[in-house]
Amino acid sequence: MGRVTGKVALISGGARGIGAASARMLVAEGARVVIGDLLDGEGAELAAELSAGSGRDAARYVHLDVTRAEDWRAAVDATVAAFGRLDVLFNNAGIVDGAPINRYPEAQWQQVLDVNLTGPFLGIRAATDALVAAGGGSIINTSSIEGLRGSPWTHGYVASKWGLRGLTKSVAMELAEHGIRVNSLHPGLIRTAITDGIPDDLIPIPLGRPGRPEDVASFVVFLASEESSYATGSEFVIDGGTVTQVPHRT
Ligand code: NAI
Repeated sequence: MGRVTGKVALISGGARGIGAASARMLVAEGARVVIGDLLDGEGAELAAELSAGSGRDAARYVHLDVTRAEDWRAAVDATVAAFGRLDVLFNNAGIVDGAPINRYPEAQWQQVLDVNLTGPFLGIRAATDALVAAGGGSIINTSSIEGLRGSPWTHGYVASKWGLRGLTKSVAMELAEHGIRVNSLHPGLIRTAITDGIPDDLIPIPLGRPGRPEDVASFVVFLASEESSYATGSEFVIDGGTVTQVPHRT
């Protein structure tokens, strides 16, 4: 018996990186997953691999642009049509930005907020009825350590991740009566495509290494499972100690 046997999860941005690692770990622990992404080739390949590897009909891929309400509706409908229910929504898709504040393009600001904040809002809105119909469930929102602190240049990113941290709490309060738990993840530097070109020592990391996608995926499995049944509106920091550290002279 896996830790999430019988559960059905919809994962945005699941074709690669943290989303893909989470899809793999959820399937390994008995769940069925629907991977939504813009990367149709990689997403479909991963879904086929997960079903073949597990020897069961364990994964599907749907094209999902998280900024489009109609894509979200179709993704939720496809999930329920394929697997009969929806227990877990993992709002993982995200993009990063970078420009000094006095030259920060408005279009860039809007795009980052659309993907990183409006995307999860649209996902939660589309998934809520299905989660209620399943008798409760878990919504997992990927914020960041940039949703806990400030960082130069990444103004849209920081604002979106703080916003998602707040949305997590308001939705957690509203959906608690339905047995739907809503929590945020706050990863530090994790080695994926989004952090390509960033040196390992960009930020001091007390544990001495950047994270792996699997370091975050294990929290996704925990929050998807009944092991976390008393946690809602909470923040789970996975950063090797980064935000706890205040540099000081010894
Ligand atoms: P990644 O770039 O490997 O994966 C992001 C996925 O989101 C990609 O598959 C991409 O195609 C998809 N995506 C982008 N825009 C989309 C859209 N409009 N609709 C649907 N899918 C879309 O990056 P990674 O690292 O796996 O990021 C996952 C999440 O973790 C993001 O929300 C990111 O902000 C967050 N995060 C990552 C950290 C890191 O150091 N890698 C640290 C803190 C948070």
